[in-house]
Amino acid sequence: MSERMILKLGGSVITDKSADCTVNRESLATIAAAIAQSRTSGIVVIHGAGSCGHPEAKRYHLDKGASSGQTDGIWVTHRVVSGLNDEVVRALRDAGVAAVGVHPFHTAVADNGRLVSFEHRHLEKMLALGMVPVIHGDVVMDLTRGACIVSGDQLVRYLALALHIPCVGLATDVPGVLDGTCVVPKITRGTMPEIQIGNSKHTDVTGGMSGKLNELLELADAGIGSDIFHVSRTRDFLNGNDHGGTHVRGEKNE
Ligand code: IPE
Repeated sequence: MSERMILKLGGSVITDKSADCTVNRESLATIAAAIAQSRTSGIVVIHGAGSCGHPEAKRYHLDKGASSGQTDGIWVTHRVVSGLNDEVVRALRDAGVAAVGVHPFHTAVADNGRLVSFEHRHLEKMLALGMVPVIHGDVVMDLTRGACIVSGDQLVRYLALALHIPCVGLATDVPGVLDGTCVVPKITRGTMPEIQIGNSKHTDVTGGMSGKLNELLELADAGIGSDIFHVSRTRDFLNGNDHGGTHVRGEKNE
């Protein structure tokens, strides 16, 4: 498979969401090995924050913005999620992948919680050189709110479009989108209202599974489908095999 792809690692698969910032190094090593053995270039890795960012964002109310003199949370949250990014990059590099961390705080601008710009010419250059950019959900300065939290899922949507990446996979701690206990094999905007989606038990300032699906349906509207699967099936996704998860598609594309 030569086309470029985005792999998003949910915060719940790389951290222990039930504790304060705790990196799941075992899971990271397993994911890094799967990537190293499947493809080491043409891939952008985007990860969430899990317990290394959501609790801080909540504590400092960054989901509501930031005002003059109330900016400590921006630094605290960015620092903790950047620390997680360092660990993801380290795990990939230890497995032999030419990974490098890229921080949205430095390169993106949002307005009312939505990304309005993200410099991506440097990402194109990294991909051309065989590097693997590793980007993460982050605090971003916001033209209206002062600051906001941009989820990894919002970055997936923005960067898949900006970089024209047609293949998008999201590794999560569930086997796909669940309707009750059953995996929904395919979701389109038309079938979405029929599905009862559960919510995360843990602190999540970016909307959990329904926030994720909103981003992915916007991407599908623009002609780019995406797949949600259990992290243990990452290798299957990377190799283009069945992963037993959910396919999010536009009304027209299969
Ligand atoms: C959140 O990113 C970023 C911060 C809270 C700083 P995500 O919303 O993508 O994280 P997960 O995947 O839900 O943990």
